[in-house]
Amino acid sequence: MRFSTAIVRVPGLSYADGLTTSAEGRPDIGRARAQHADYCKALRACGVQVTQLPADERFPDGTFVEDTAVIAERVAIITRPGAASREGEVPAVAAALRQFRPALEQIESPGSVDGGDICQAEEHFFIGISARTNQDGAAQLAAILARHGYTASLVDIRAHRSLLHLKSGITYLGERRFVIARDAPRPAGLAPYELIEVDTAEAYAANGIRVNDFVLVAAGFPRLAARLDELGYAVRCLEVSEFRKMDGGLSCLSLRF
Ligand code: GLY
Repeated sequence: MRFSTAIVRVPGLSYADGLTTSAEGRPDIGRARAQHADYCKALRACGVQVTQLPADERFPDGTFVEDTAVIAERVAIITRPGAASREGEVPAVAAALRQFRPALEQIESPGSVDGGDICQAEEHFFIGISARTNQDGAAQLAAILARHGYTASLVDIRAHRSLLHLKSGITYLGERRFVIARDAPRPAGLAPYELIEVDTAEAYAANGIRVNDFVLVAAGFPRLAARLDELGYAVRCLEVSEFRKMDGGLSCLSLRF
């Protein structure tokens, strides 16, 4: 799938007050903003027009816009994020998304879905059941996707405490290939795909994004970068240390469509 557009949200001054389980320390907002600016620059270099939403200090996790929507070619769905502190992030993203996709579907209570749990591989969606995405939300999402001609299957990641979201441990590269952390759950239905396994020391790098002709990966994980390079991908390594500190990564920082 080719992307022409991305929606991002600048980290606010309250960013460090967001949710995290990381022991990496408190993020530095100046560095986070510089890393975010580099991320936007990289998206533009991949051929994507970037719509940048202003920070909203009420929502420290608001920069992780991916959790607020699921966007495919034939349907766009506004989620209901699983953390109560994040529900208020949705209206601003929905308003921005409506400029591009006027007909939005929606996950309703008691369902909850974080976009980080949703991994699209061509016409199929793997939906992670996590601390954020519940069974009801997953069922609603699968039903909406089915109405638009997509298939979906569920992957329970709740026993994998190191993964906030399904995509914390898995990235669809295209070409029927996944990058997957060695310790991440193996969803049923992976047999037709080639798996590029990431060793435990580089597990964080399993969260990356394919954007048109490029693969964006976190800087500091040379074995994965070298492997992707060997496979012929144009790899761009981006420093995301300040997002890792808040359990975030490359995919969480944008909605791409
Ligand atoms: N800090 C990102 C999240 O927990 O949702």
